[in-house]
Parts: sequence; C-alpha cells; structure tokens
Amino acid sequence: MGQRVNIGVFDSGLGGLSVFRHLITDLPNAQLIYVADSAYCPYGTRTFEQIQQRTKKIVDFLIETYSVSLVVVACNTATAAAIDFLRSTYTIPFVGIEPAIKPAALKTLSKVIGVLATEGTFNGRLFKQTTERYTNGIKTIIQPGYGLVELVEKGIVAGPEVENLLNQYISPMVEQGADILVLGCTHYPFLSNTIGKLFPNLILIDPAPAVSLRAKTILQEMRLPVNLPSENPIFLTTGDSATMDDFLSMHLSIKAKSKQIKI
Ligand code: DGL
Repeated sequence: MGQRVNIGVFDSGLGGLSVFRHLITDLPNAQLIYVADSAYCPYGTRTFEQIQQRTKKIVDFLIETYSVSLVVVACNTATAAAIDFLRSTYTIPFVGIEPAIKPAALKTLSKVIGVLATEGTFNGRLFKQTTERYTNGIKTIIQPGYGLVELVEKGIVAGPEVENLLNQYISPMVEQGADILVLGCTHYPFLSNTIGKLFPNLILIDPAPAVSLRAKTILQEMRLPVNLPSENPIFLTTGDSATMDDFLSMHLSIKAKSKQIKI
C-alpha cells in the first residue's frame, strides 16, 4: 500500500507561491499544503522573536493537522529569522530560502550586483555569512524593498505605483553598474515582468527552482514511499481567502477554493 506524503509550504503571505509553482512540478506525487500568513504580513519589519512565534504556530498546525513530513519555508525573511529555531525545535526537515548571492557573484560581468530583499533578511546571519563568503571583489548593493510586498499581496504587480517603487530602488543599482539583480524575497518574482520592462538589460535571479529541487532531493533521501498520485493542493490563509483565490487564478492559473484558518 502506498502512502501519500504531505509537504507543508508557508510564507508570510502569497509570495511563497513563487516557490510553490516549482514544487508542484518537481513533486508531482506529494500532497502540498500551502499556508499564507497574510493576516500577519509583512514579516519584513517584525522582530525575529515575533516571526519565530508565527512560524511555530504554522508548523504546529501543519504537523497536527496534516502530519507533514517536510516543511518548505518559502520566505527569505522567515528563513533568516527562524530556520535555526525550527530545526532545533522539530525533528522533521526544513528547506529554507535565502537570496541567491552565490550564483549572482559567479554570473556578474560588471562585478556589481544588486540585492532587493526585506530588512529582516538583510539583518539575518545567513545573509551576512553568504555575502562575506561569496562576494570577494564584487560590489554588493543592498536595498530593502519597502512597500512592494504589500502591493503584491493585493495582486498589484504592474502599474505606476509598482513602477515608482521599482525605479526608486533599482535605478541607483543600475547607475552604479549592476548587471544582476537578486530577488531576495519570494514576493518579488511576481514583479519580474515589470522589472524586465523597466530594466531590460538586468539579469534577474530567483532561487525558487533550486529550493524546489532541494526539497525533492531531501524527499528522495528520506526514501518516503511516494507512490500515490497527489490530490489537489490545499491552500490555506490566515487572511482573506477570496484574495488568495484571485491571486492563484491570475498568477498561477490555478482555480482553487482556499480556506481561511485562524492560528
Ligand atoms: N515573502 C517574504 C520573503 O521572502 C516575506 C516578505 C514579508 O513578509 O515582508 O522575504
């Protein structure tokens, strides 16, 4: 008899769906359960202790309700604030996400890279360590993307408001010679088209495909018997379910009925 493997995926909101869209292809036999913590979004300006408390609530819920075997933390800020805490609290494995500094440093021709992320991500140990290790001889321009997460949460990924903020944050990077922009927040890949329109020569780096493959490798190493076809993914939100359904339909072409949860 086969067994369906349940995988939890969460983010401060809808941004982690930029990781989810790869997981659904890479793990076709797993049951994916996505939790958007939209009622507490954004995480970017919260303290690490506050974020740890939220992640604990979400992971407890995922384990108690769905017996998940693995959790993908599809949020750079939550990874920065809580991945060590989660790994020391639970026995199941966690896959986190952090700004893709290493591939950017390897790829840049101008030796200048830009990183757009939240304040929380820049303040984390992981970001500092990775930057120190991989950016020797490379100028790294960091910029918090204030206001962008809030717009993406509302499904606004184009138009004057988005363009104004992107111009404000990215133009100084380009003026200083950046040829690569690291998307250091899972909400930002949904802005890729607008960024591409404003800065057509900038190469964008999104770590989501690598994170998804990492989750796949861990599942293979765990040798879990994944031999039942998966059911439809489950979408849960602490925020508004109609907003999530609209976002899924508009940006992932998924018709789903998400459910609001109170945790
Ligand atoms: N999607 C998030 C990240 O990857 C968090 C954004 C936020 O809530 O501030 O960092």
